[in-house]
Amino acid sequence: MTTPPSASSSTRTPARLIPTLVAQSAKASGLLGVDFVPIAVAPSGKPTGGASTPAAAPPPIARSTRDRAAHQAKLDAVRARYEHDAPHAKFGFTFTNLVWGEGDPAARLMFIGEAPGADEDRTGRPFVGRAGKLLDNMIVAMGMAREDVYIANVLKVRPPGNATPTPAERDASKAYLFDQIDAVRPEVIVTLGLPASQTVLDCDLAMGKMRGVWAEFVHPNAKLGLKVAVMPTYHPAYLLRSYTPENRKLVWSDLKKVVERLR
Ligand code: URA
Repeated sequence: MTTPPSASSSTRTPARLIPTLVAQSAKASGLLGVDFVPIAVAPSGKPTGGASTPAAAPPPIARSTRDRAAHQAKLDAVRARYEHDAPHAKFGFTFTNLVWGEGDPAARLMFIGEAPGADEDRTGRPFVGRAGKLLDNMIVAMGMAREDVYIANVLKVRPPGNATPTPAERDASKAYLFDQIDAVRPEVIVTLGLPASQTVLDCDLAMGKMRGVWAEFVHPNAKLGLKVAVMPTYHPAYLLRSYTPENRKLVWSDLKKVVERLR
């Protein structure tokens, strides 16, 4: 099924790319059952390649040219501090692996989710389950690769039963997340879902109020002078649950704003 171009899709740009979530049979698609594939759109705004015909890859977004070793060293130092402090310990979580985060340590774009799930707990890597596959596809539709971005979560260990992180759990972890952001120093952060958006923006607004609106992360240590543009959007797991054309279109319109900012 094709997602029609959004109202803001310009007809001035020839053959621009929009994503479509192509429903596939569970058998054909393997894990996911859905895909997030860019398709070519003619100047008329109509898809050129048929409902599910992927176009050539979207124009790539330039990678960061900053010194990766320096950013990685800072990330390692924050991780060591986290492991020493073990802020999760007081909540009595039983987990297999710490899921710290991964990707380009000097990435221009950082995604922040809420907490590891079962697949992440098993592998020690963020966003590797069904929601992760959808996130990967979204990143590709933006003209990037997973290894070009940095992906982290508010919580670094899996809450029991995949429960939504409580405010107390978020508060215990957030200082490390904020220092992780300081280590990477991205140009843009995309927060995925309510817990991540509220934590990064230090607010208690509803998702409907935050989604799609540029906001700003300000590191609480004013001496760092760190401010980063934030685009809150729906969590891919929510998108998988509420897989409507409207929701897909909203998420894509949010991601398009990020692409425009990074170009
Ligand atoms: N959901 C998240 O918020 N983070 C992950 O790493 C996986 C699923």
